[in-house]
Amino acid sequence: MYITIIAAISTDGFIAGPDGDMEWLSPEDAKVLKQTIKDNDVLIMGSGTFMAQRHMFKVNSSKTRIVLTRDPKKYTAYSHLANFTSAMLQDIALSYASSSKKLLILGGSHLYTECLTQKIGNKILLTVEPTVLGNGTPFLQSNLSLHEFTKNLHLQDQRILNTEGTKLLTYSYE
Ligand SMILES: NC(=O)c1ccc[n+]([C@@H]2O[C@H](COP(=O)([O-])OP(=O)(O)OC[C@H]3O[C@@H](n4cnc5c(N)ncnc54)[C@H](OP(=O)(O)O)[C@@H]3O)[C@@H](O)[C@H]2O)c1
Repeated sequence: MYITIIAAISTDGFIAGPDGDMEWLSPEDAKVLKQTIKDNDVLIMGSGTFMAQRHMFKVNSSKTRIVLTRDPKKYTAYSHLANFTSAMLQDIALSYASSSKKLLILGGSHLYTECLTQKIGNKILLTVEPTVLGNGTPFLQSNLSLHEFTKNLHLQDQRILNTEGTKLLTYSYE
């Protein structure tokens, strides 16, 4: 098992703008996301991310999609698109521990915070867009600062993706 976490943030640390706005993300980031999804076997996300991004998910995909929710019954209308579970992220990860599957954590802030506080994951792909949103959905929940987050990680690679200055940072855990 290998776990990758992928996120795109604004310069001021948001993963979505007010009302879930995602228009600030660059096409280059979209390419990174698309390729990373291709490269992985199991996609894991919170119900907020699933509901916001569900148009991306086709029926009959070769990928296993797992959506975390406290109330799987609430999502029966979408059961053809994903497996909804109230299992803990850590237990889901453990269930793949002896397999060669590649797991991808797609967010949102609940899952990112859980990964970082419980040290779940091997690699983090973080796109930083040169945009200040001012408000929206924070990358991490308030008990974790971006500084604390980066302190526990090793920067493996950094790439500028376009002339606007979108940056892709690749971290591994300590
Ligand atoms: N820029 C990016 O890289 C990026 C990435 C992902 C998402 N987003 C955006 O961020 C927004 C969604 O993020 P979010 O932080 O609001 O939502 P989220 O983390 O995707 O989902 C939150 C929900 O997930 C469920 N959940 C989380 N942890 C759980 C656990 N341990 N056990 C059971 N259920 C759990 C709960 O669902 P229930 O309420 O159903 O119980 C919770 O309300 C959307 O606008 C999306 O487009 C951006």
